[in-house]
Amino acid sequence: MTAYVPEEVERYAQAHSTPPDPVFERLAAETRATQRSPQMMVGQLEGAFLRFVVAMARPRLVLEIGAFTGWSSIAMAQALPLGGRIVSCDVNEETTAIARRYAAQAGVADRIEYRVGPALETLAELDGPFDLVFIDAWKPDYVDYYEAVLPKLAEGGTILADNTLFGMAPDHPLRRFNEHVRDDPRVECVLLPIREGVTLIRRRP
Ligand SMILES: C[S@@+](CC[C@H](N)C(=O)[O-])C[C@H]1O[C@@H](n2cnc3c(N)ncnc32)[C@H](O)[C@@H]1O
Repeated sequence: MTAYVPEEVERYAQAHSTPPDPVFERLAAETRATQRSPQMMVGQLEGAFLRFVVAMARPRLVLEIGAFTGWSSIAMAQALPLGGRIVSCDVNEETTAIARRYAAQAGVADRIEYRVGPALETLAELDGPFDLVFIDAWKPDYVDYYEAVLPKLAEGGTILADNTLFGMAPDHPLRRFNEHVRDDPRVECVLLPIREGVTLIRRRP
C-alpha cells in the first residue's frame, strides 16, 4: 500500500478521531486472516470520515460500488437517518458474505442490500436517485462508474471516489478519472488527501 500521508500524521489523526465500534476490530482481524489484500478496507480514519459525511448529508439512498468485507458500508449505515438505506455491490461472493455477517453483528443488516455482480450491470438495474455514491471498486472502470451514476444522482447529491491520489502515477487509470472529473463542466470537485485520496464531486448548482 502506498503511504501518501506520513504514518505519524495518520496515527495522530486516528488517535484524535472518535474510535470505531468494536465490531470493526473483529471485521479487520477476519479480513487480515482470510484475504490477500486486507489493505483494501477503508480503515479507521476514512471509515470515520464516511460516517461523518453520511451524518451531515442525511441521504435516503446511498450507492456503494465495492463492498469488500463491509467496513465502509457498515460505517455509513451506522449514520443513516431513519428510513435511509444503502445498496452496495461487489463481484466477490465470499467477501460479500463476510460483509453481510458483520452488518448483522453491527445491527445494520436491515439498512444494507448487498448485491453480487459486476457493478456496471447492477447499476443498469438501479434507478436511483442516489443521494450519496461511494466509488471504491475496479480502478480502470471509474470513469464508466461515474458516467453511469451521474444521471441517477439526486438533486444536491454527492459522489465520493476513493484512492484518487493513485492518479499521481502517470500510468495509473485514476489519472484519467481525475482529469475527466476536473474538466467536466457539469460538476465541481475537491480531492482531499485523506489516506489514498478521496474526491468529493457534486453537480454544479
Ligand atoms: C477496495 S475494495 C472495496 C473496499 C471497501 N469499500 C471497504 O471499505 O472494505 C474493492 C472491491 O471492488 C470489487 N470489485 C472489483 N471489480 C468489481 C466490479 N467490476 N464490480 C463490482 N465490484 C468490483 C472487489 O471485489 C473488491 O471487493
